[in-house]
Amino acid sequence: MDLELSGKVVLVTGASEGLGAAVCNRLVWEGARVALCARNLRRLDATAATLRAQGGEVLALPADVSRAEDLERFVTAAHERWGRVDALVNNAGSASAKPFLSVTDAEWEQDLQLKLFAAVRAVRLTAPHLRAAGGGAIVNVLSIKAKEPGKNTTPSSVTRAAGMSLTKVLSKELGPDGIRVNAVLVGMIESGQWERRAEAAGKPPQVLYAEKSREAGVPLGRIGRAEEFADVVAFLVSPRASYVSGTAINVDGGLSGVV
Ligand SMILES: NC(=O)c1ccc[n+]([C@@H]2O[C@H](COP(=O)([O-])OP(=O)(O)OC[C@H]3O[C@@H](n4cnc5c(N)ncnc54)[C@H](OP(=O)(O)O)[C@@H]3O)[C@@H](O)[C@H]2O)c1
Repeated sequence: MDLELSGKVVLVTGASEGLGAAVCNRLVWEGARVALCARNLRRLDATAATLRAQGGEVLALPADVSRAEDLERFVTAAHERWGRVDALVNNAGSASAKPFLSVTDAEWEQDLQLKLFAAVRAVRLTAPHLRAAGGGAIVNVLSIKAKEPGKNTTPSSVTRAAGMSLTKVLSKELGPDGIRVNAVLVGMIESGQWERRAEAAGKPPQVLYAEKSREAGVPLGRIGRAEEFADVVAFLVSPRASYVSGTAINVDGGLSGVV
């Protein structure tokens, strides 16, 4: 299926590795022009170089999405570079799950800034450009914990539930402008954060993946691949998903207990 993404301008946050990088890779393959950001310049440059080597038209900017001024710089630079924006993927994030009584105010604040306020601000900055382009798409990358919070999952599960609510509100407010807003809820998918955990545990990533999948009882029997996640996001930002809005799709191999 041609996703009709050729020439579209897509912004992806937190894309120097893991799921964000896989999304950029897929978008470049589809002929989209991609702006990506992350904090670590070395990793960001390496990812941008890989994307360019595949023929991608790419803008890579160091930015911390939890800082309003960085986000503004990122969105403005992308718009100045290509004169339009067609889609936004709010992907930047990190794991933060602890027993409620051990989470400090500073940790709540940090999680909300990184995963909720960053998306709020990015949409505020991007929506006028999407409107000017005659419509577009926003994808918020969340976690299955948004729908099914378990114990010891704060602050992340609460922040993610807010992200899901934001997705629905925005789909209703921006829909009349032709802007579709959806969320993708991740279960366990291979990425940089898992590789770092494997390294800390002194075991190869594949061993950790097999253990985690078994412990969690993933119905499909394995952790997901970043490309499998990227396929879903690429479809959602594409015109081929033209009647899909206001939904939250689990990409979790069947792990979540709720639909
Ligand atoms: N993989 C999973 O199993 C899983 C499960 C549930 C939810 N998720 C969510 O999926 C998203 C992608 O996760 P991932 O697994 O791909 O993580 P990852 O491998 O750790 O990659 C995270 C990316 O985001 C960037 N990033 C982190 N904080 C940032 C900030 N403040 N500003 C800008 N960029 C930032 C990182 O680069 P720098 O560190 O250089 O900034 C990196 O490029 C996250 O929102 C995560 O919470 C993933």
